[in-house]
Amino acid sequence: MITYAILLHPGHNRVYFSASKTLSLHELTIALRSFQGSFGPAELRELAGVPYITFTSQTPLSPQQLTDLGRLSPVYALFRLEENADGPILSPLALPESRYMDSSVSSILKYTGKTNELFTRMMLSVAYHSLPTPPREPVRVLDPIAGKGTTLAECLIRGWGAYGVEIGDKAAGEAFTYMKKYLETEKYKHEAQNQRISGPNRSFTARRYQITLAHNKDEFKHSPRQWEMVAGDSQYCDHYFRHGFFHLIVGDLPYGVQHGNVTGQSQGSLTRNPCQLVEKCCPAWHKVLMKNGILALSWNSFVLSWEDLAAVLERHGFQVFREEPYHSFEHRVDQAIRRDLIVAEKAE
Ligand SMILES: C[S@@+](CC[C@H](N)C(=O)[O-])C[C@H]1O[C@@H](n2cnc3c(N)ncnc32)[C@H](O)[C@@H]1O
Repeated sequence: MITYAILLHPGHNRVYFSASKTLSLHELTIALRSFQGSFGPAELRELAGVPYITFTSQTPLSPQQLTDLGRLSPVYALFRLEENADGPILSPLALPESRYMDSSVSSILKYTGKTNELFTRMMLSVAYHSLPTPPREPVRVLDPIAGKGTTLAECLIRGWGAYGVEIGDKAAGEAFTYMKKYLETEKYKHEAQNQRISGPNRSFTARRYQITLAHNKDEFKHSPRQWEMVAGDSQYCDHYFRHGFFHLIVGDLPYGVQHGNVTGQSQGSLTRNPCQLVEKCCPAWHKVLMKNGILALSWNSFVLSWEDLAAVLERHGFQVFREEPYHSFEHRVDQAIRRDLIVAEKAE
């Protein structure tokens, strides 16, 4: 039996305070369930006054499991924990370098209404480890309410296909400009274009911002990555993307409060009320997600209850994960926002 100890990412505590440790436990619990092997429960433990998350495993973690572990949001460093008469001994374990892009891509850009990048990383991990079987990489992810693209940036860090829809033209355009600049500065080989998308009716307007990228020329030819942001309405995302194209849909819904608005404009109720928005968009989201694909959404539970949101998703053919710890992600962000997470599978 081996005991592993995870040193928590220092950035976590700053944002959602005491709740971050519990959320980290849930994220790790969901990841361990998806691993082959026999694991003891994830537990919080203090060693010399420093908090760690520990778990036991019957066998050493495989290289793939170490890679997956290194991608979890709370993991700052991994140790093997042994106890002797003098107390605990921590031996550092190297985590494989699995990053396709440096994490600065998601942390440099700061703006009002941005979803915290560690929280976004957690949503991606929870969604990924909820898939019934691990997909072939690169995983394709859609953020259907993408703002300026934190989820897309987090996807590129993992080398995944990053796709978004954002109704605010300005926010979508700024995400594109930022991404091009970042790739230029970091010397990625890339090609960028943007074009109008025509749609089902006259009032339909949308623009697709597209970047194909790679570390170098050779990789660009054989295995480039894709970043795409559509400036358009998410309820039409089945016109923007192929049906069954995405493994995961991951997004942070509008909070239903005036402040913290990514687009910087006062928007109509549809763009602020998460319930109406999800109701309208579900048919299109269901179409673009592949069978057994996972939908993970965070939202402000002050304006919509978990049960009401679950009911909307279930009406539209999603099967909501109700078992623990899926129903225990709720945490306070500020006076007006109590954030929660809901995860569902496209079952039919
Ligand atoms: C909480 S913000 C997402 C922030 C994003 N995760 C980020 O870090 O930049 C929610 C976003 O949903 C967008 N939105 C609202 N209604 C939409 C719709 N019908 N289609 C696409 N985007 C929409 C809003 O404009 C807002 O930018």
